[in-house]
Amino acid sequence: MIAPEFWSIPTDAPSESELARKTATLKQRLLDIDSRFSDVRFATSLAAEDMVITDAIVQSKANIKLFTLATGRLHQETVDMTKTTEKHYGISIAQVYPEESDVQAFIDQYGMNGFYDGEVAKKACCGARKIKPLNAALLGADAWLTGQRREQSTTRVELNLEELDDARGIAKFNPLFDWTEADIWAYIKQEGVPVHPLHLKGYPSIGCEPCTRQVKQGEDIRAGRWWWLQSDSKECGLHVNK
Ligand code: ADX
Ligand code: SF4
Repeated sequence: MIAPEFWSIPTDAPSESELARKTATLKQRLLDIDSRFSDVRFATSLAAEDMVITDAIVQSKANIKLFTLATGRLHQETVDMTKTTEKHYGISIAQVYPEESDVQAFIDQYGMNGFYDGEVAKKACCGARKIKPLNAALLGADAWLTGQRREQSTTRVELNLEELDDARGIAKFNPLFDWTEADIWAYIKQEGVPVHPLHLKGYPSIGCEPCTRQVKQGEDIRAGRWWWLQSDSKECGLHVNK
């Protein structure tokens, strides 16, 4: 049982008809993306939004491949969640690892947990463990998907369904850009989607273990990510388009 001061899974829900409308739209978005592009890949962190997309991909039978960035610093619960998801849906999720030499270079320069020293070191760690592996994971793809939502952060309020990923010269989609937190949890409940265990322990947003902590009731849902940095640097660079 989670202490009452921490964030807990929302219980407010959209109306049945609103959820049905959003669900049908989501599946149609996935099928449209599949029909327009030949090699579509979905980056899943195994957190709630990404589980909704995974479920909708399976249900809609859209031809979209899944991968996860296995940074080497994830919680054991996240690693286990990959297996749980594969088993539940009978799918496979490609695990993309960082280059050992890149990780070693970061450790040599900054120390294993050097990211606590500030923005520069954090960027270097995310670069080695997430961004370079993301570039590798997207080689050959002509479109990719993320679970980002507008409501998640002030840095995401202008998200659209479709964007151009200038850095990689491919299309990028945020099929949940207009979903609320309540929509996400109502879908999960209705469809019996597997839930990452840390969501039951006060974590609304889940990244690497040393850079993620619980959030208090009423706090920003991303307050537990890189909490020692200014709010305008609370992105890991996965979603910088230029
Ligand atoms: S982050 O940029 O701050 O790390 P966040 O955790 O909100 O992002 O996740 C936003 C989206 O980035 C997810 O919906 C997912 O598409 C992608 N993402 C984040 N972490 C990973 C990961 N470890 N592996 C694959 N995709 C990820
Ligand atoms: Fe490194 Fe933290 Fe970024 Fe993970 S989230 S890659 S541990 S700085």
